[in-house]
Amino acid sequence: MARLKTAVLISGRGSNLQSLIDAAGAANFPATIALVVSNLAEAFGLERARRAGIATEIVSHRGHARREDFERLLDECLRAHGIEFVCLAGFMRLLTAWFVERWRDRLINIHPSLLPAFPGLDTHARALAAGTRFGGCTVHFVRAEMDAGPIIVQAAVPIRSDDTADSLAARVLEEEHRIFPLALRLCAEKRAVVDGNAVRILGATAPTGSLINPPG
Ligand code: GRF
Repeated sequence: MARLKTAVLISGRGSNLQSLIDAAGAANFPATIALVVSNLAEAFGLERARRAGIATEIVSHRGHARREDFERLLDECLRAHGIEFVCLAGFMRLLTAWFVERWRDRLINIHPSLLPAFPGLDTHARALAAGTRFGGCTVHFVRAEMDAGPIIVQAAVPIRSDDTADSLAARVLEEEHRIFPLALRLCAEKRAVVDGNAVRILGATAPTGSLINPPG
């Protein structure tokens, strides 16, 4: 089967990008990372892409009268490279309905909370302040509303009594690096089927048991 030609959009350090690059390095991974696009020239993720021999493009969001003008360039760039699927990996621009609809169900995002809890920024500090027992991360199909859309994979991370936003972020990030490649694989294998606001995963059953925090 041909590998799904995937682009990763970034704005920063690109550790999630790295997890996708590493996963796609396996001969049997069903997607290939064909392009990395950043809106910022200084994003360290661009360096990761270059080291891996992946094409890079910088599409600046600055100097456009309207958000759609930036997105039109982004869209043209993706199409010029023959891209079939897009992963947002720490891409810090909100996308309009125009772009999201053009890439509907071919555009996924990683977010560092258990959505629909804590969309937006500062998710770990907000989870701690709210006293939740679990933090986590989510990969979802993108819709026009921020950090919303059918959920593909989540990982739950128990919160410790001595956690800070940074310590929790570090443990959640490790899980991000596991679930993003998993979600991309499920999409590329056409096993993540959008069904209304939800996603059905073909050929997978949920793990048995539960995670309780505190344990007793
Ligand atoms: C991650 O926490 C991701 O969930 C969020 O932005 C951060 C990006 O980190 N959307 P990195 O650039 O992938 O290291």
